[in-house]
Amino acid sequence: MKEKQLLMIPGPTPVPPSVLKSMAAPMINHRGTEYAGLQREILRKLKLVFQTDNEVIIFPASGTGGLESVVTNLLSPGDRVLSLTIGVFGDRFARIAETFGAEVERMAFEWGQPADAGMLEERLSRPDADRIKAVLVTHNETSTGVVNDMEAIAGAVRSHSALLLVDAISGLIAMDLPVDRLGLDAVVAGSQKAFMIPPGLTFAALSPRALEASKTARMPRYYWDFGMMLKSMAKDQTPYTPAVSLLYALDEALRLIEAETMPRSFARHQVLGEMTRRAMEALGMDLFAREGCRSNSVTAVRAPSGLDMKAFRKLLRERYNVVLGGGQQKLESEIFRIGHLGFSGPFDIIGTVAAIEMALAEMGVPAALGQGVQAAQKELMKVGASL
Ligand SMILES: Cc1ncc(COP(=O)(O)O)c(C=O)c1O
Repeated sequence: MKEKQLLMIPGPTPVPPSVLKSMAAPMINHRGTEYAGLQREILRKLKLVFQTDNEVIIFPASGTGGLESVVTNLLSPGDRVLSLTIGVFGDRFARIAETFGAEVERMAFEWGQPADAGMLEERLSRPDADRIKAVLVTHNETSTGVVNDMEAIAGAVRSHSALLLVDAISGLIAMDLPVDRLGLDAVVAGSQKAFMIPPGLTFAALSPRALEASKTARMPRYYWDFGMMLKSMAKDQTPYTPAVSLLYALDEALRLIEAETMPRSFARHQVLGEMTRRAMEALGMDLFAREGCRSNSVTAVRAPSGLDMKAFRKLLRERYNVVLGGGQQKLESEIFRIGHLGFSGPFDIIGTVAAIEMALAEMGVPAALGQGVQAAQKELMKVGASL
């Protein structure tokens, strides 16, 4: 039965039934009082998930749009930016800055590794570092399953005047990112990840320093203009038609997240991450991300040698209704990825692991049935509380 699918990719994630239902409500006038109340309530709850008192802006767009919005509002052509890149999405952030005329200096780290805060600190202490206007970094690199040490990175940037711009699209809500405490200047997130709503909204939390920079930044923008957006938001409106149905969904999803509480959301994602990691290791597979920086929203697994990755994922999808992510770019035939963020629970992991075991056995990879499942069960039983 195709309806009963386990969608285990790192976004879009499954959407809770009450969120799906919320989107079926009739349209309202986006210039009326009902809409104004909805927007106010959403912004209150958004600040909780960003752990911030800063302004948070919502754009009807995918996460890439959110990244483009912070680049174009905070920088001018010719500005030097330092881009810490540890995979596909770090490269994308750098490319966006380049596209709009920034002079991008890449500090690239081997895929599977996190960014080295010590190297960043050293770079920022050199005499020519005064020119660096912003540091770009990915909180959680979805392509490799690596989470950066944002505390260390923020610490390295703190004594320098550069703005710290963070792609937290696949990390926010799944892993602790205290935006204000770390002094992050711009933090971008996306609706189809741990927010548990469909794709189509992106969010940017902006520090007072970022808002100040946006007043003089000269990169071209219209749709993304923070000034225009904030002026409308002061009247509980948006400068153009908002994605009303997605905002209904957001309101309901944030209600669920507030009820779960952020600490419990982080704890749940931690357990799901551990269950997945232990299960894959029990099946004799290596994790792609280095130990100590493994993401709790997505696990990248090195495929056993000789395994036809495309056939493996096809078998899982077509026979067992379990959908996994593939490797991106140069990792296409090296890894597969299991998403465990958002509306995801322990038995989604156990079911996925069971299906992986069966698919591996069918493809002739020696892996004892039940071994991964058992490892996941043991991990879950350690917690001893419902998630
Ligand atoms: C870390 C990260 N950055 C950026 C993006 C791009 O987001 P979108 O596909 O919503 O534009 C993604 C999407 O997977 C992501 O995981």
